[in-house]
Amino acid sequence: MTAASGRLRVGVLVSGRGSNLQALLDASARGDYPAEVVVVISDRERAAALDRARAAGVEALYVNPKDFADREAFDLALVGELTARGVSLVCTAGFMRILSPAFTRAFAGRAMNIHPSLLPAFPGLHVQRQALDHGVKVAGATVHFLGDGAVDTGPIILQASVPVHPDDTEDTLAERILTEEHRLFPEAVRLFAEGRLSIVGRRVVVRGAR
Ligand code: GRF
Repeated sequence: MTAASGRLRVGVLVSGRGSNLQALLDASARGDYPAEVVVVISDRERAAALDRARAAGVEALYVNPKDFADREAFDLALVGELTARGVSLVCTAGFMRILSPAFTRAFAGRAMNIHPSLLPAFPGLHVQRQALDHGVKVAGATVHFLGDGAVDTGPIILQASVPVHPDDTEDTLAERILTEEHRLFPEAVRLFAEGRLSIVGRRVVVRGAR
C-alpha cells in the first residue's frame, strides 16, 4: 500500500530484537488498520529487527552513527531519511540512543516511544530490575510522545498495568509487560492515525475513548 491508500506513513527506529516492531508490522498487515510501516531504521547493523522488516517486505535501513561527526548530525540524517519517505509518525521501539532536540523538534507531537514501566516511575534502563528492587506490586507499560527534555518524560498516551508476582525475575516480569506493550503500541498508533490524540500541556487527550 502507498500514500495513495490514505494510510498514515510510519517510520520505526530500532536497535535490537524488534518484538514491538513486529506488533506494528502485524497491525500494518491488516487492511483495515489506518497506518502502515514504510521504513525501519536501525543504528545497529545486525539488529534482528531489520530482519523482521525485510521479512515483512518493508524497507530496512542501517544508519551507522560512526559516519557522523556528532549526535545532532546523526539525528538530522534520520530526520532526512524519514522525511524523504513521507513519514508522518515516528515510533521508537527499543531504539537505544537518546534523540537530541534536532530530532524531537522536527517530529514534535509526531514521535512516540514505548517504555516498559508505568511512567513516571522507573525511566531509563534496566527498568524491570528497578521495579523489582523497589518492591512495587504493579508494573506495566507506557506509550508516550517524545519530549525534548529528559528521556521517558513526554506526554503519556496509553498505559497498561500488570501484577508483579513474588517469584518474578527480570525475565518473567519483562515477558508479562511485553505482552501489554505489543497490544498498546499498535493501539496508540491507531489512535494517532485516526486523529484522536491531542496534546494539551503535558496531557494527551484521547477523543472518543472507549
Ligand atoms: C521493550 O521492552 C521496550 O519497551 C523497550 O525496549 C524493549 C524493546 O524490545 N524500550 P523489542 O526490541 O521491541 O523486542
